[in-house]
Amino acid sequence: MSQRPPILLDCDPGHDDAFAMLLAGATANLIAVTTVSGNVGLASTTRNANVVREVGALDVPIYAGAARPLAGEPLHAPDIHGDSGLDGPTLPTPSREIEATPAVEAILRYTREVDGLWLVPTGPLTNIAHALRVDPTLVDRIAGISLMGGSRTFGNTTPAAEFNILADPEAAHVVFSSGANIIMAGLDLTHQFRLGWDEIDAFRALNSKVGVFAADLLTFFMERYEARSGMPSAPMHDPCAVMAVTHPELFETERLNVSVERYGEHTRGMTLCDTRELHHRQEANATVLTRIDREAAFNHLLGALTSYTAEA
Ligand code: BDR
Ligand code: CA
Repeated sequence: MSQRPPILLDCDPGHDDAFAMLLAGATANLIAVTTVSGNVGLASTTRNANVVREVGALDVPIYAGAARPLAGEPLHAPDIHGDSGLDGPTLPTPSREIEATPAVEAILRYTREVDGLWLVPTGPLTNIAHALRVDPTLVDRIAGISLMGGSRTFGNTTPAAEFNILADPEAAHVVFSSGANIIMAGLDLTHQFRLGWDEIDAFRALNSKVGVFAADLLTFFMERYEARSGMPSAPMHDPCAVMAVTHPELFETERLNVSVERYGEHTRGMTLCDTRELHHRQEANATVLTRIDREAAFNHLLGALTSYTAEA
């Protein structure tokens, strides 16, 4: 299936969020972008979404959302994304304004107006949780929620927890217990989609505004991961949540029960996936992506970026 499903991208750009936005702009029907505090503060993630819209000349409205998680203090990741949240490329000054409507209001409205809408959160789940709290029936109006977050195995921000879930475990709990059709792209999946120098060269060779932007983004992102892991490659997390909607044939999946740990001293923010033998398992509440066809996924991402004109 390669069609253009309607997507609302809820993001915290963020290098890989920027790729997710450009990918969705080229391969999905990108209805709206909403922003949330995450990799950097809300003002920066919102400006960065606007920068990406400018680079890609995307005709999509952007709405600013939550500046704080449901509980506790905001968590950021400048060690991976730099102080701006999009360090690396030269960032243009956006020519368009952000919408005045708050993100949660926009999310609720689009779920009413757009048939078959996919919510694709690639940051902390705060906005989606707020929307679900205001109107839990929204799950009946959407096609589903395809999110990047969590893991079946290891964490990245702590040994147990992935960044997006740890940044707002209470919100993640609201989402995973909402009854929505949930697809989870966790770390054990996104770490199969690592990109390095060969892919940077391929983006740069596009010789377009978007290609150079993508190459500069990935260079910074990869060098930050290399400093941590010693490997000259970076996991391209967030585009996986988009591709799970636009190109599900790229993935192997498993139906699992996923619960969000909120209280553990060492395990807060962990997504506990019930992988026990089938007849012991709790009822599944998510489709968990387990394997990705890396080559096909990269060709798909490259093809998407190729579709932007030289000047975008
Ligand atoms: C997630 O955290 C962020 O740093 C990335 O943008 C991605 O959404 C990976 O843990
Ligand atoms: Ca993100």
